[in-house]
Amino acid sequence: MSMEGKVAVITGAARGLGAAFAQELSGMGMAVVVCDVRDCDETAAAVKKSGGKALSSKVDVTSAESAQVMAAAAVKAFGRIDVLVNNAAMYGNLHNGRFTDLDEQEWDACMAVNVKGLWQCAKACVPSMREQGGGSVINISSLAAIFGMPNALHYATSKGAVIGFTRALARELGRDNIRVNAIAPSMVWTPGTREIMGNQVDRFAEVVRNGQTLRRNLETDDLVGTVAYLAGDMSKFVTGQTIMVDGGTVYL
Ligand SMILES: NC(=O)c1ccc[n+]([C@@H]2O[C@H](COP(=O)([O-])OP(=O)(O)OC[C@H]3O[C@@H](n4cnc5c(N)ncnc54)[C@H](O)[C@@H]3O)[C@@H](O)[C@H]2O)c1
Repeated sequence: MSMEGKVAVITGAARGLGAAFAQELSGMGMAVVVCDVRDCDETAAAVKKSGGKALSSKVDVTSAESAQVMAAAAVKAFGRIDVLVNNAAMYGNLHNGRFTDLDEQEWDACMAVNVKGLWQCAKACVPSMREQGGGSVINISSLAAIFGMPNALHYATSKGAVIGFTRALARELGRDNIRVNAIAPSMVWTPGTREIMGNQVDRFAEVVRNGQTLRRNLETDDLVGTVAYLAGDMSKFVTGQTIMVDGGTVYL
C-alpha cells in the first residue's frame, strides 16, 4: 500500500506507540512529522535511518497556537498534510487511584491533553487536507473507555470523549472527503504502560489476557497495521468508526 508523496503528522511520537506509528507510516512511503512536548529527534533519526523523511517538531497539543505552528512547519517542510494521528495523551505519566482520590489538577490536565488536544490538532491540520481534497484523522482511544477501567476515571472518561469527538467530527468533515476514525487498543507493552502499572504490570497483564479471546499480550506490532489501514485508501469508505484492537475483549 504505497502512500508515496503523502504526509502524516503523528502527535505524542517521542516514544511508545507514536514512534511506532511514525515508522509504519514512513514505511508506506509517507513523510512524517513527529511531534510531542518531549524531544522527538530520536524518532525522527530512526525514521531517517530506515530511509524515510521526517521532521521533528515540539508541540503542546493543548495549545491552539502551538498546534498551528506545528502544522505550518509540516506544510513548509513537505507541502501538505494528508494524515493526522492524534496519539498524544496523558497516559504513562498519570496517577491512578479511587475516583475520590484523583487529583483535580491532573483531571483537568488529562481532559486538556486527551480531549482538547485532538481538537487543537484537527483545527491546525484539517485546512491542508481540505485544500488537497481529502485526508484521514486517526484518534487513539482505549479499551478503557468501552470496558470501563477502574481506578482511572479521568483516563477512561477522556478516552470515551475521543469516541464522541471522532463521530461528530466525521459527520462534519465527510463533505470534505476527510475521514475520521478511532482505534481502541487494550494494554500494549510500551514504556508508558510500564510507568503506569509499576510493579503490577505482570499481574495486570494476566488479568487482561484472561479476558481476551486471543490469549496473549497485545504488542505494538499488532497495532500498527490498523493505523496503516485507516491512513490509506484501503479504508476509503470507512469513517466515524472505532476499531477495537484488543484480542477480542469486547465485541462492538
Ligand atoms: N500503551 C497502552 O497500553 C495503551 C492502550 C490504549 C490506548 N493507549 C493510548 O495510546 C497512545 C500512546 O500510548 P503510549 O503507551 O505510547 O503512551 P506514552 O505515555 O508513552 O505516550 C504519550 C505521549 O504523549 C506525549 N504528550 C503528553 N502530553 C502532551 C502534550 N500536551 N502535547 C504533546 N504531546 C504530549 C508524551 O510526552 C508521550 O510521549 C495514548 O493516546 C494512550 O492513551 C495506550
